[in-house]
Amino acid sequence: MPTTGKQSIMTDPRVREANVTIPVYGQLPFVPERASGCDIFTQDGRRILDMYGGHAVAALGYGHPHLVQAIHEQSSKLLFQSNAVALDVRAGAAEKLIQVAPQGVERVFFVNSGAEANENALRMACVATGRNRVLAITQGFHGRTAAAATVTWNSDRWYGFPSKPFDADFIPRDDVDAARAMIDDNVAAVIFEPVQGVAGAYDLSSEFLETLRNETRKHGVKLIADEVQSGIGRCGHFFAVQANGIEPDIITSAKGLGGGIPCGAVLCANDIASRFGPGDLGTTFGGGPIAAAAITATIEAIENEDLLMNVRRREAQIREQCAIGPVRKIQGMGLLLGLVCDRPASEVRDALLEHDILTGTSSDPKVLRILAPLVLEPGHVEHLAHALEALAPLTD
Ligand SMILES: Cc1ncc(COP(=O)(O)O)c(C=O)c1O
Repeated sequence: MPTTGKQSIMTDPRVREANVTIPVYGQLPFVPERASGCDIFTQDGRRILDMYGGHAVAALGYGHPHLVQAIHEQSSKLLFQSNAVALDVRAGAAEKLIQVAPQGVERVFFVNSGAEANENALRMACVATGRNRVLAITQGFHGRTAAAATVTWNSDRWYGFPSKPFDADFIPRDDVDAARAMIDDNVAAVIFEPVQGVAGAYDLSSEFLETLRNETRKHGVKLIADEVQSGIGRCGHFFAVQANGIEPDIITSAKGLGGGIPCGAVLCANDIASRFGPGDLGTTFGGGPIAAAAITATIEAIENEDLLMNVRRREAQIREQCAIGPVRKIQGMGLLLGLVCDRPASEVRDALLEHDILTGTSSDPKVLRILAPLVLEPGHVEHLAHALEALAPLTD
């Protein structure tokens, strides 16, 4: 492994991490020292434009003054108290989330991550319906814990537990007839990502989403929108389902929710929430004061700076300027975009990184993912377009 100019092999964190952590992550070939706006500054003096946002977490980029101030003020006032006590800051975060969510979801349960949000959402749907069968969508990703992994496509190679918590089956994505045939009175929930993130920012068709909503309503099935990656403004709406006017029974959120502070949330309809009382759900850290302050500040910044509009404008600019060089097609929504390439996306990612632009791959080998901060600027997109232009398209 190459070391940075200033460092000996003994102090390089890549070597130190490799010595003491479980090596489950492929890591990028640079070490960030600090970051500001959309830029990461590395230990060896590079300035890298971050269009990946730490797996879609850095919604406001880095060092956003409103978020930093909120975290700073809350940490000096009250760093932590659990749900054993009520807190102004937690009530405020829940009120804010409900205010920006689609009609029909009126209650919040705070958790700490995307998988934990989905785990609880699935439990809530099974309890509320008294049923034990869940449908998900092919190619979808919902997390690594038992229930979330059970509804994740192709998870068998790493699932690891001896059994699954419920029966699960997968509706072929965008197959309207299969959705109609598979959703029946035995199903507790259908879980879906409106834009499938890990799968390469694949946006499910409106017709398919409407069919999921109509069929689940007809059969008393809970519709769970996993907006862990697509939500909190990333798709140009607070939640991506709002683009199609879909009103799910449950929405899960995490990643960008706290702008970088770990947190998650399950939002649900009143009739589901009313099935739960003291002791039925719980988590120590969920809705902690720092996370709550970060959630409110993140949503406020999106509102105050008109970032939903910025996301839509940058999406239009990317579609106009970046279907160039190796890029054959662009899919997805807002700043959750998949650049379908004429070669392995990993090759394009590596080449862009040489131009100091960070992008991501996906589970589709040909799709490069853009998960840029919502504060992305026109000049950043131009930089990407120039770097892509420098990569000659392959001739068929
Ligand atoms: C759509 C979706 N759901 C759930 C998760 C799991 O989230 P976490 O890694 O916070 O557990 C992810 C993570 O990539 C995701 O993209």
